Amino acid sequence: MDKRIEIHRNEPFGLTRVYSRASPNHIRAFDGTSTLSNATSVTKSPEANHLEKCPDDPPELVGPLRIVFDEEQSMEQLVELNTYVEFGGHYKPPDCIPLQRIAIIIPFRNREHHLRHWLYYLHPILRRQQGEYGIYVIEQAGENTFNRAKLLNVGFVEASKENNYDCFIFSDVDIVPENDRNLYRCSQNPRHLACAMDKFGYKLPYTGYFGGVVAFTKEQYLKINGFSNNYWGWGTEDDDTYKRVTLSGMSVDRPDRNVGRTKMIRHQRDKGNEVNEKNYVVYNRMKYTRNQDGYISLKYSLIKIEKNQLFTKITVDIGKPPS
Ligand code: UDP
Ligand code: BGC
Ligand code: MN
Repeated sequence: MDKRIEIHRNEPFGLTRVYSRASPNHIRAFDGTSTLSNATSVTKSPEANHLEKCPDDPPELVGPLRIVFDEEQSMEQLVELNTYVEFGGHYKPPDCIPLQRIAIIIPFRNREHHLRHWLYYLHPILRRQQGEYGIYVIEQAGENTFNRAKLLNVGFVEASKENNYDCFIFSDVDIVPENDRNLYRCSQNPRHLACAMDKFGYKLPYTGYFGGVVAFTKEQYLKINGFSNNYWGWGTEDDDTYKRVTLSGMSVDRPDRNVGRTKMIRHQRDKGNEVNEKNYVVYNRMKYTRNQDGYISLKYSLIKIEKNQLFTKITVDIGKPPS
C-alpha cells in the first residue's frame, strides 16, 4: 500500500483529508522490544511527565561507524528498520526533552539511490543523538541547471512553516558521518560537519572549505541573509557561504578531525550541474551583493509536498539562470 500523501500548492496547508497514514511506531525501544508500559509517557508532552532535558552527551552513541555503500535497501525495508520514525520523517526522543529542534535540509534531484543510503545510515544515528528532528528533501523540478544553495534557502523557509526549528542542518544527499559523535546539532558559530571527508584524504582541502554538511541556528542563518540564489551549476556556492559567515563577524566551528570523518558516495557529475565559470564572477562581487541576494530575495513556486514515512519531499520550481 502506498503510504505517501501529497499536498499540492492549491490546497490549504492544514490537511483535513485523512489518507492511508502509517501508524507511528514510536513506542518501540531501540532494540525493537516493546515498551508499551511507557506508552503514556509517549502520548503526553514531556513537560507533563516531568522529563529532564536530554544530556549534552547522548548515552547511546557508539563512536566510529563502518559505512559501506554497496548493498542498498528498498524503501519498504528502510521503513521496517526505522519504525520509531514518525510519518514525514520526524522524530522526538520519548524519554527526555530534546536540546534542539533540528530541520535537516537535503538539496535533491534524481539521486534516489543516494537518498536510500542516506536514510539507512542517518535515521539511527540521529535517533541516538537525541535531537528532535525532521528530514526535508528539497527537489528541484524540471531540467534547468541545478542550484544547490537556492534549494537550501527553500528548505529553510518550508521547514520553518512546519515547525519552530532552532537549528538547520544543510546536507548533501551523498554524505554520511563515520562517527556518531559528530553531532548533527548547532553550536555557537555556524558549524561545518563534513570537515574530514574521505575524498579529500580526511582533511580540509583548504582552510575556507565549507561544503557538504553545515549547521546554522535560525539566528546565524538570518544573520548571513541565508545563501546566495545566484550560483547555477556546480561550484563556489559553499565558498560564498563561508565568506558570508566571516564577513558577518562569525567564525566556523568544526569537530575534531577524527570525529568529523565523513564518507561521500562516489559519483559522476550530474547532468544539469556542470561547472559554471560564471560563478566566479558572482563570487567576486558577493561582498557588494550579499545583503540583497539571499533569504530576503528568495523567489520560487511550490509544486508539491509529498509526505513519506521517512522524509518529507518538497518539489519546487526555482527558475533558471539569467541568459
Ligand atoms: N544534487 C542532486 N542532484 C543533482 C546535483 C546535485 O541531488 O543533479 C545535490 C545532492 O544533494 C548532492 C549535492 O547536490 O550531494 C552536491 O552536488 P555533488 O554531489 O555533485 O557535489 P560534489 O560531489 O562535488 O560535492
Ligand atoms: C569549489 C567548491 C567545492 C570545492 C571542493 C571548490 O573549488 O568552489 O564549491 O566544494 O572546490 O570540491
Ligand atoms: Mn557528491
